[in-house]
Amino acid sequence: MAASNDTVLGVLVFTRHGDRQGFYQDPTSYTTTTPTIITPLGTAQEFQLGQLLRSTYFNASSPSFVSGVNGTLVNQTQIHVRADAGGELGVIYDSAVALLQGLFPANADYKSALANGTTVEGALAGYQYVPIESVEPTNDVSLEGYTSCNPFNDWTNAFYTTPEFLQKANDSAHFLTLLPPFLDNRPVTLQNIYNIFDFMLVNSVHNSDFAKALPPTFLEQARALANFHEYGIFTSPQLNGIGNIAGRTILPVMIQELQSIADPTNPLKLAYQSLAYKPFMSLFNMTGAAQQSPQLAGIVNYAAAVALEVREPSGGGSAVLRLRFKNGTDDQFTTYNFLGQTGDVPLQSFIDFVNPALINSTADWCTVCNNTQDRGCGAIAAAAAQANAAAINGIGHHHQRISPVGAGFLGAGLTIAVMLGMFGVLAFLGLITLGKGPSKARSAKA
Ligand SMILES: *[C@@H]1O[C@H](CO)[C@@H](O)[C@H](O)[C@H]1NC(C)=O
Ligand SMILES: *[C@@H]1O[C@H](CO)[C@@H](O)[C@H](O)[C@H]1NC(C)=O
Ligand SMILES: *[C@@H]1O[C@H](CO)[C@@H](O)[C@H](O)[C@H]1NC(C)=O
Repeated sequence: MAASNDTVLGVLVFTRHGDRQGFYQDPTSYTTTTPTIITPLGTAQEFQLGQLLRSTYFNASSPSFVSGVNGTLVNQTQIHVRADAGGELGVIYDSAVALLQGLFPANADYKSALANGTTVEGALAGYQYVPIESVEPTNDVSLEGYTSCNPFNDWTNAFYTTPEFLQKANDSAHFLTLLPPFLDNRPVTLQNIYNIFDFMLVNSVHNSDFAKALPPTFLEQARALANFHEYGIFTSPQLNGIGNIAGRTILPVMIQELQSIADPTNPLKLAYQSLAYKPFMSLFNMTGAAQQSPQLAGIVNYAAAVALEVREPSGGGSAVLRLRFKNGTDDQFTTYNFLGQTGDVPLQSFIDFVNPALINSTADWCTVCNNTQDRGCGAIAAAAAQANAAAINGIGHHHQRISPVGAGFLGAGLTIAVMLGMFGVLAFLGLITLGKGPSKARSAKA
């Protein structure tokens, strides 16, 4: 199907975490109310996915081999990894660690000669350490744009009053009455179906008495209802609708990474983001992939992966994107059409298409989510107030709204508040310009 001599310049991979213990998320605000951890099965799934990515993208005889990548020894300028450190606590971060262990196995050549003549091999027989940026929702909105977002809460509540939802609630009412013997005491309503499905799935996998007792069709019936529910919440009829917020906040980072991969002067080859299931839904909706392939309108399985391959067409020319998706451990990578087209799509067309919906910074997010206190919005609001106060006190002549937008996804906390305050005043005084440059990654390396 592919023109065989095009070149894979690199790939943006995003994955869902592996199998984990049960958790509970509020069906309106999507805040998590119980802790969870990854299971041994979850680490095995992610490790296996890492091995598959390795054989697909790092093996010179693979048709998708990434040109110029060093798949033997990690070259840290070629790889950029981010992991959501939000509601599922360490699950998503640990998934990234396990995947990377499969992607870059220990190598005896990870060693160096010391001044005294001894050669030392890296720990664990040359285990290769890859930095992972831990993305904390308190100071970075990019991977969990939906929590603490007032219009999003309004949207979930509104969804529960749509004729479509009420019809589904009516149709599933009898089924739901059969479930309490198989649940703990969580509410058994269609609104709460994600948590119901989660409980049934986790116990089907880990509790043999439960797995034997559960009537054979129940898990799939609950899954179908959960798919309907989550797709209704995490998508929107409008590209820039609030239901798509998980996609709208992650896309700026993704676009930056895709552009870096396409840029011949930039060493990046593999960008990898470890995620929850929500951004997958928004992205399949926003790109129209779920319209062209309706089976994509559901919750992705554990260790599901999207690979957006950046390719240079065989005759040269501008980079194109290929969308491949694998719905969990038991599925295979399949190429999907998107943007209403067939086959590869020019990278620039993709960027132009989603551009009007992007939430490019924390400040943008605070505006969209009508939030002046959480996730860095307090600092931004305080800086704005300070700049306004300065204006009122006659320090400057123009009434200018400060815009820390260009500073990118900013961290919260006192330091930032002070910094923004200073920037706000300086910007206000016209001493500095806050440009629209790409955001600089803060990293918590591990
Ligand atoms: C050389 O230095 C390393 C690291 O300090 C040490 O482990 C090793 O024993 C030294 N070798 C010799 C021959 O002194
Ligand atoms: C996105 O999802 C909404 C439902 O929330 C649906 O109405 C719309 O058609 C979908 N858009 C595309 C392009 O598939
Ligand atoms: C993934 O597979 C599950 C069933 O295993 C299905 O319910 C769901 O819709 C699929 N999701 C996507 C995005 O393909």
